Amino acid sequence: MTRPVSVSLNVNDAIWHVDAKPETPLLYILRNDLSLNGPKYGCGLGECGACAVLVDDRPVRSCTVPLAAVGTRRVTTLEGLAVSGTLHPVQRAFIEEAAAQCGYCLNGMIIAVVGLLQRNPDPDENDIREALRHHLCRCGTHMEILAAARRAVTYAGAARDAGLIPADTMEVSP
Ligand code: FES
Repeated sequence: MTRPVSVSLNVNDAIWHVDAKPETPLLYILRNDLSLNGPKYGCGLGECGACAVLVDDRPVRSCTVPLAAVGTRRVTTLEGLAVSGTLHPVQRAFIEEAAAQCGYCLNGMIIAVVGLLQRNPDPDENDIREALRHHLCRCGTHMEILAAARRAVTYAGAARDAGLIPADTMEVSP
């Protein structure tokens, strides 16, 4: 039986100290210890995508990532996307397209699109669909979610064209 360990986590650009067993899923730490409830518990098996967060800018399913595997990597949750109260363009796009019905899956959808834009600033329709393919939505708002993702791509392109973000960076700024 493992014992709790004390670790420091870099979450949303802040250092948090937690005491937990090394095998504790990152999702539990985020929700229960840090009160970051953007990531949702859906299946707990890495299947649905509701728990997605970014680790070093890559989407991962936090229900399957043990605390011990996080180390010094940067974790970004839905709460960490907005800057000084200004929503991330992907969040804005999802609101403007009214992409939520129950909204439970949207954390994962938004994180997936942010991750997509960070590795590919100009994704095409296939790229968008591939990024979202393994995220489940039981309400069936797939059309609105795809529309939101396309709108987010447009916003990211406009920000790039306006020089707000260099084309070769992995950041998307409002
Ligand atoms: Fe993590 Fe479903 S709760 S993938």
